[in-house]
Amino acid sequence: MPDPLPFVIITHALPAEWLAALEGHCTWLAGPPAAAQSGGDLVPELVERLPQADGLISLLTIRVNEDLLSQAPRLRVVSNMAVGVDNVDLAACTQRGIPVGHTPGVLTEATADLSMALILAASRRLPEAASDAKAGHWSTWDPTGWLGIDLHKTVLGIAGMGKIGQAVAARAFGFGMRLIYNDITPMPDIEERLGATFVSFEDLLAQSDILTLHLPLTEDTRGLLNAQAFQRMKTSAILVNAARGTIVETAALQQALQEGWIRAAALDVTDPEPLPPDHPLYTLPNCLIVPHIGSATHQTRRRMAELACVNLLSGLSGERLPYCANPQVYRQA
Ligand code: DGY
Repeated sequence: MPDPLPFVIITHALPAEWLAALEGHCTWLAGPPAAAQSGGDLVPELVERLPQADGLISLLTIRVNEDLLSQAPRLRVVSNMAVGVDNVDLAACTQRGIPVGHTPGVLTEATADLSMALILAASRRLPEAASDAKAGHWSTWDPTGWLGIDLHKTVLGIAGMGKIGQAVAARAFGFGMRLIYNDITPMPDIEERLGATFVSFEDLLAQSDILTLHLPLTEDTRGLLNAQAFQRMKTSAILVNAARGTIVETAALQQALQEGWIRAAALDVTDPEPLPPDHPLYTLPNCLIVPHIGSATHQTRRRMAELACVNLLSGLSGERLPYCANPQVYRQA
């Protein structure tokens, strides 16, 4: 009898063509489509099968925590279909010798495009202008109507100059913006290539006309944009967040927008996520919210799934994951 194929749980249904690489290498059970599931836990029919699971493909909405891991004693790989892994307890996985895959690189350009779209939409007040036109408030060409701000020569502050931050910088450079950034250390090659200037986080807050966040969610970045931070920003500033919702304190943002501490915000991510439909932020004309669509293009989402399959198959066959979020798991081994 040949060995049975490894068994894999896929937390949400994904298009079959995105999973083509798995054919013949494992069997799998997928949960319902993402749109039919809310909350961060696996649906009961998948929980029941955890004891048999050799591998797991997860989305960023599922908590891969001690509770889940303790029910999956055979698990040899977790493959998260996202670059961010804040939904995964990396320490718990490492302790169990389980490598965690993620999908860096393939979503850089799409996320940078969306960040730029948010920057443009907020600076030119597109949501207000579009809804006013639709509501019949467009009576004439109005010289003082819907005035926004120029991007040219405006200071774009980038918090987090990783791959996505750099891709946003390249786009903003093309728009003639002045670039400042903050990261753990200065990056001389970027400064030379894009004319971006390294500043302290305090100066980033104080000097940015538009502040865009491209940081991972960690204990250091959680709640980084709080009331004190908003009070240090220019009253004319725009905040853009396409990173993780919990980097920004929602109540503080609401106060900052309502009381004019900053001009506007454009958010791809929120805390909580999804933001409930009756949340006051939706009622503010200076706040644009879209539903975590940074990587939502046909090409990018497919590449993310394909990379998740590559990581999964490597883990199942005992090879090093090409994109591993907890490489210390190998040092430990
Ligand atoms: C990620 O991969 O972490 C992104 O948030 C998905 O768009």
